[in-house]
Amino acid sequence: MKQDTKTFYVTTPIYYGNGVPHIGHFYSSMIADIIARYHKISWYDTRFTTGIDENSQKSVLKAEEEWIKLEDYLDNMAIIHKKTWDDTKIDYTDFIRTTEPRHHALVQKVLQHCFDKGDIYPGEYEGKYCVGCEAFKKDEDLVYFDRKNKKQVTDTSQIDVDEAYDDGDYSVFADAEKNADIGKRYVLICPDHLTVPAVIREKNYFFKLSRYQTWIEEFYEANPDFVKPDFRFNEVKAFVGRWLEDFSISRETMTFGIPLPFDESQVTYVWFDALFNYYTSLISSPLWWVTEENDESHFWHRQDYSQNKILHVVGKDIIRFHAIFWPAMLASYFDLWKIDSDWVIHFTDTDFSRLPNQILTGGYFTIDGQKMSKSIWNVIDPVEYCATYSKDLLTLYMISAFPIGNDGDYDREDALRLYNAKLANNFWNLVNRIVVLSLKLDHQLWEGIEDFKSLNWQDYNKYMLETFWEAWENICESYILLDDVKSALDWYDLKWALDTIFVLLDWLNKFADATEPWGLLKTDTKKAEIILFVMARRIIMISFYLFPFFPEKIAEMYEKFWLTDYHAYLQDWRLEELKVKPESFQITEKGSPLFERFDV
Ligand code: MSP
Repeated sequence: MKQDTKTFYVTTPIYYGNGVPHIGHFYSSMIADIIARYHKISWYDTRFTTGIDENSQKSVLKAEEEWIKLEDYLDNMAIIHKKTWDDTKIDYTDFIRTTEPRHHALVQKVLQHCFDKGDIYPGEYEGKYCVGCEAFKKDEDLVYFDRKNKKQVTDTSQIDVDEAYDDGDYSVFADAEKNADIGKRYVLICPDHLTVPAVIREKNYFFKLSRYQTWIEEFYEANPDFVKPDFRFNEVKAFVGRWLEDFSISRETMTFGIPLPFDESQVTYVWFDALFNYYTSLISSPLWWVTEENDESHFWHRQDYSQNKILHVVGKDIIRFHAIFWPAMLASYFDLWKIDSDWVIHFTDTDFSRLPNQILTGGYFTIDGQKMSKSIWNVIDPVEYCATYSKDLLTLYMISAFPIGNDGDYDREDALRLYNAKLANNFWNLVNRIVVLSLKLDHQLWEGIEDFKSLNWQDYNKYMLETFWEAWENICESYILLDDVKSALDWYDLKWALDTIFVLLDWLNKFADATEPWGLLKTDTKKAEIILFVMARRIIMISFYLFPFFPEKIAEMYEKFWLTDYHAYLQDWRLEELKVKPESFQITEKGSPLFERFDV
């Protein structure tokens, strides 16, 4: 049991089960996977939860559309989703389904608790609901669509919102028959799903979010890194600044979902249920037997905010749910405030240590400049793509092309070019040079340079500088940069970390170009051996930080160098020990290439 170790809990959004995961979903999972792997090798006891969001209206509609019994439809989708993450080697520790009894039990407990303390109350709801977003919408969240010209209106100042127009094509209306706007030319639509939200009038229960206004503002102030990147946090703060309204947490007309324990005629609104998956997963984690301890107290209720981290990876479209609703819901459930006999609220937990540390918010990307859509056949299935090309290509491009947080474009040709340049040329070229040239020696690399190998750090540096001058200077700097890579990973700045690693590899290639060990092999074998040895050593150091991104390939590289236990060390979280472990390479054969070029 790793009782005193640092802990790290990372989650992806649980994806809706009304479709198979595409590359947009893969993006969040891949980010979480890299970060989880990095924390695991860095001696954090790590948990990684992903899963499927099932109690949604979308799934019900989809099952009806396909004439399949809802339960069978969901079971099948859960298999497909899980298989997607298994096939793309996402190393999660728990795959949660929100129809599982463990989750139902928790959500009902939460609801009852919040209801008993007065944070949930009944009321009437009248408003617009977008099924695509599974969210209630205000008019300012929507955009005008011109049904006559079939396009979104950017300049609304010129339009007459009541202008009549009825061509009988109601394709943008979610619920055509009931919609009051049906005879109009301009209708408000959801910008993400391009449909008119359904108008809903029903009895609902509400969550008293407004009560948490000050609390949430204090929480943000105390945790300036709660949402990353900063510009997203600013958007959230601006939204909170316009005052929080209570939100509906139940649906009267939905029959599928988790019934409210205090009014079984209603089911829980999908977001109130879905967010709690992050907590359910720890209460009854399938790994409880490993920790011999309840994961909930081990991973969630730890005191040291910097050593015990909880990270949610999400997309920008679901940031409000995570950054506003979620902390308030937890505050209510964990009783982070109390009311005294004069009905004055006291906030009891000012260090906020029972809330997640950070919401890492990814942007949206398009494919070859276009929005992903089934109608134009550009939706990329990650399993198929990884099988045709490789997961490494996806990882490399998605991380390098734009920083997490920005919107970007997935340009398929650019992705291949980048792969060829960075992995097939830069990285593999370097490893291959070392392997091929070492095989030309009539002994193992390092056997002819025992005296050099045993130099202490200072003498080693002195020797390298005196012998190789400028060629060595860059490499000296790379020692400092490698520490920066580590910090970047600690801060989840994956792009910076990966870009910097490739700079370091470039420098190593340049060092080889400048010193030409291939020529020296004939004239000064010892010098050539030193160059190869030093390069191998550097590349191994760098590989520790490449491992979270390309774990299989780095493991293969260790095999080429005959560093057979290295992979096991990393798997066993012993990165720090590896850094000081004396290496003894044995390069015995060239073997197959780690990365092969693709034709563009
Ligand atoms: N079920 C909710 C999440 C509940 S979490 C408690 C949900 N599911 S989703 O399947 O619609 O989307 C999951 C994630 O995929 C979102 O974070 C969304 O941002 C991301 N992406 C979907 N399409 C995407 C792109 N084209 N690009 C990047 N990410 C995108 O929301």
